[in-house]
Amino acid sequence: MRILFLTHAFNSLTQRLFVELQEQGHEISVEFDINDAVALEAVTLYQPELIIAPFLKRAIPDGIWRNTTCFVVHPGIRGDRGPSALDWAILQDLPKWGVSVLQANAEMDAGEIWSSVELKMRKTSKGSLYRNEVTEAAVKAIVLAVDRYTDKVFRPEPLNPDDSSITGEWQPLMRQCDRAIDWQQDNSGEVLRKIRSADGFPGVKDEFFGRELFLYDARPEPTLQGEPGEVIARCGPAICRATHDGAVWIGHLKDKATEHAFKLPATQLVADEVAGLPEIEADERSGYREIWYEQQNGIGYLHFPFYNGAMGTRQCMALLKAYKQATQQDTRAIVLFGGPDYWSNGMHLNLIEAAESAADESWRNINAIDDLALEIINTDSHLTIAALQGNAGAGGVFLARAADEVWVRQGIILNPHYKDMGNLYGSEYWTYLLARYVGEEHAAVIIDNRLPLSTRQAVELQLADREIKQRGDEFISQVRLLAETVIRTPAFRERLHYKNVRRQADEQTKPLSRYREEELEQMKRNFYGFDPSYHVARYNFVHKVPKSRTPLTIASHRRMASKWKRVS
Ligand code: COA
Repeated sequence: MRILFLTHAFNSLTQRLFVELQEQGHEISVEFDINDAVALEAVTLYQPELIIAPFLKRAIPDGIWRNTTCFVVHPGIRGDRGPSALDWAILQDLPKWGVSVLQANAEMDAGEIWSSVELKMRKTSKGSLYRNEVTEAAVKAIVLAVDRYTDKVFRPEPLNPDDSSITGEWQPLMRQCDRAIDWQQDNSGEVLRKIRSADGFPGVKDEFFGRELFLYDARPEPTLQGEPGEVIARCGPAICRATHDGAVWIGHLKDKATEHAFKLPATQLVADEVAGLPEIEADERSGYREIWYEQQNGIGYLHFPFYNGAMGTRQCMALLKAYKQATQQDTRAIVLFGGPDYWSNGMHLNLIEAAESAADESWRNINAIDDLALEIINTDSHLTIAALQGNAGAGGVFLARAADEVWVRQGIILNPHYKDMGNLYGSEYWTYLLARYVGEEHAAVIIDNRLPLSTRQAVELQLADREIKQRGDEFISQVRLLAETVIRTPAFRERLHYKNVRRQADEQTKPLSRYREEELEQMKRNFYGFDPSYHVARYNFVHKVPKSRTPLTIASHRRMASKWKRVS
């Protein structure tokens, strides 16, 4: 079937549906919801049999839904309506929630129900639920709805207010006052829920140190205590605020009153205010841990759940240090676990944007990631495994491919390309790694296509080596089990020997230092050259400047139209 995605952005859920439906044989094109005229033009150009709106911020124009069936993905149970569905479910601490596929009509979210899938809520941020449980449920719901639509027998269920099995109802847009924190009254659980209901967007507005700040990235603190509302400690990027029954860590803040009105590490944004506070060393019981190592049955495990998968210079250097220590242990393999939501999204674009010289900070950051990639590629004492629980993008994908094996949780999305960031050339030894694992021909296609890859595609292309079905804690257990099996196989020593022989042979053919030099030469042009595209694209990305058109890489209907124009 020919399906048009009408969406506010090509976000992670839209990307996942894009690859899933393509794998089921559907033809998909994407149009960003910029205005009515542009959306109507896309429909005229593409003539879709069905329109899907995976992520929309406004109603679909009349002229579209009246003529073509439109499915809206709503992150709510049957009957739920309104723009803050997930926010309310988190704030109300519901144990279960759902995703429904509704047919667009004149009233927002009030159309007939084509499918609905239940999900179990986890105590985490809205963004994390969206990228995990909501995405999985949405895939099931959309696949079911599309099948039902294709069969032409199924009759969608009207939204009937008298039907007692429909428990959802209209819920308004959540306002700041609905989740404002009362530091004197709210316990830690309530504070966490309020912040998590607004994380990644819009953040909970709060006032402290005489400033109006938005809070993100909250974690519980089980041991520290203080006067409710008081900032009592710091740890890495995070600050600790006391509640009346304990304390919480806040990792990121946004100050809309400054020129850098985007999320930054808390200790950076209120650096002067927290300078005199005690600095806590994080361990498994207390503090805000960004990187930690554990060891079990001959294997070392490194965790690095950096917020949004962004890896700044300091974080890369700290991870390199932890990695080097891991290679000194009496173990046979090192597993790089990343974090539950992202493995890595490459350089930290927010920190670069906030730096005095964005070009200099970009240079430092890319060199710090390259140093880490180099250490992983050159590890001759251990088998290295990148185990991706969450998505990876740009340099993050190649950093993973620096390991000997890449194991991916089924359903995550990989974006192994850089060019969407203002034609950024990229480094992380991608010019070596991509050709080495997927071959020259596929490497060029992957880089030029700039498309998200499913885990199945990644394994087919040998960008990844193994898909793992389990999710969450089960993924972690399964990786441990598989890694232990790998190091116990009789051929393990031979395997290690072979990898080192191969590396030495590759080094003879072309040293890694040359790959790096060549990549960084191009990056220097991106950072310091006459063409400002990278700086403009980064500014737009960090400041979330709305897109004014859909990239041709995903808008196949516009690609066809522009070819036709060139020919005529
Ligand atoms: N640096 C800083 N923040 C980043 C980031 C990075 N490299 N990559 C993603 N983020 C942030 C986004 O700004 C967003 O922030 P929010 O919480 O305020 O909304 C959040 O992470 C989620 O990103 P989003 O783009 O919404 O996720 P997605 O799953 O839809 O898209 C990517 C994933 C990887 C395609 C997209 O995030 C991206 O292009 N990132 C930049 C990658 C890059 O160019 N890195 C530098 C070169 S190595």
